[in-house]
Amino acid sequence: MAQYTSINDEKELALQKEYMKKAASYVADLETQIGHQPLCCVTTFGCQMNARDSEKLLGILTQIGYAPTDCEEEADFVIYNTCTVRDNANQRVYGRLGFLNSLKRKKPHLRIALCGCMMQENSVVDKIKKSYRFVDLIFGTHNIFKFAQLLVTMFENREMVIDIWQETDQIVEDLPVNRKYPYKSGINIMFGCNNFCSYCIVPYVRGRERSREPKDILMEIERLVRDGVVEVMLLGQNVNSYGKNLEHPVTFAQLLREVEQIEGLKRIRFMTSHPKDLSDELIEVMKQSDKICRHLHLPVQAGSNRILKAMNRRYTKEQYLALVHKIKSAMPDIAITTDIIVGFPGETLEDVEETIDVVRKVQYDNAFTFIYSKRTGTPAASMDNQVPEEMVKEGFDKVLKVVQDTARERAALLQGQIMEALVEEVNEQDESLMTGRLSNNMLVHFPAPRTSIGQMVQVSLDTCHGFYYTGHVVG
Ligand code: 5AD
Ligand code: SF4
Repeated sequence: MAQYTSINDEKELALQKEYMKKAASYVADLETQIGHQPLCCVTTFGCQMNARDSEKLLGILTQIGYAPTDCEEEADFVIYNTCTVRDNANQRVYGRLGFLNSLKRKKPHLRIALCGCMMQENSVVDKIKKSYRFVDLIFGTHNIFKFAQLLVTMFENREMVIDIWQETDQIVEDLPVNRKYPYKSGINIMFGCNNFCSYCIVPYVRGRERSREPKDILMEIERLVRDGVVEVMLLGQNVNSYGKNLEHPVTFAQLLREVEQIEGLKRIRFMTSHPKDLSDELIEVMKQSDKICRHLHLPVQAGSNRILKAMNRRYTKEQYLALVHKIKSAMPDIAITTDIIVGFPGETLEDVEETIDVVRKVQYDNAFTFIYSKRTGTPAASMDNQVPEEMVKEGFDKVLKVVQDTARERAALLQGQIMEALVEEVNEQDESLMTGRLSNNMLVHFPAPRTSIGQMVQVSLDTCHGFYYTGHVVG
């Protein structure tokens, strides 16, 4: 398999800055035409990686003169940052495109762009070219750093602009970012995935694994901390293999040790860990750390060894359970969460029982359970023993029930304890309450002033409501 080293491309950054100036002049023209500052709406589908990419898109859009809005109806530019990990994500995009078409009929200067994982699939682009002619700009995951340039091309063309790359080795640092939260931020530490789990489309749409240089990551976090960030989420499809392909290889655990040293930073999270690559060194670093949160997302996907093998996960049920045992022995208070797929080709109800057995043994604090979705181009899609969806339902419901029961039991254990929470936002349902996040990633709602957003407080977890708590600030 080809190895790619990343090029931190300063020339490209200078070029994109030039395009930002040019794009800004087009946005200024638009402002004159419509009589108010143009509004942009960035809609994100999918994972935390996409959420971070959307902050980069918004960074450029605000830099060139758009004001952000969450309301597509009032926007003058709408971009969908898409996901294709399961088919329902694709279907949602197609459904909403119909609505955008009706908006554009009413407001002809509305520009519509699509980017992200779904656009890396030829069949998708073909369908949009054929049936969604009103889309102005399409690009993929590899050239997001060219967004300013693509916008300029879009402004200068009446035709649909399409630019999809198959790969890239470029990593362009220091482009503008518009963060959603002032006090916490995601940080890409690597891009792509080399694992090729047989059901997963990610390696095909996000390309080969590329790690950022530790110094670039540390500089970015230091800058964020100076700007008020207290919690970072280090992002990668498989953070445990971080740094292997760098010119001077480093381990993920070494990177964490360095991040830990950053003064003013209070919490460190990361996502996602592949069980096959989780090292003893990482467990040791987590155990010693004051800042790394007591939460590990460790996708198991399935419990049957036959299915795990067909999924190309490269661990057995026994190895996974032994790993969890090692982690829990080192850190008894850790919360472990997971992803589970039900209905992989050939999976029987007996296999599903193996998954349920894992859930019972691990006692997950939370688990995302998915029905297997056939992704064209992946090895699993051409397996001839696909399970009809109506047969999957029974197994899925069974898994979900055990997952919810164990998660409730786990949550109840902490009722009455006092724990540290980062105050994140005003409670969506009750404006008199604030919502805070615990180290273990659970949420707690409690009365507190709005000015406490971004601060760490000690909260008594008075009542457990299944998957969250209500409580009060102490001290
Ligand atoms: N079908 C269902 N779930 C999938 N995932 C990835 N690919 C598929 C698929 N084809 C799930 C995995 C992964 C999570 C991000 O999405 O559980 O961990
Ligand atoms: Fe997909 Fe497996 Fe890579 Fe995760 S590790 S992104 S499931 S191929």
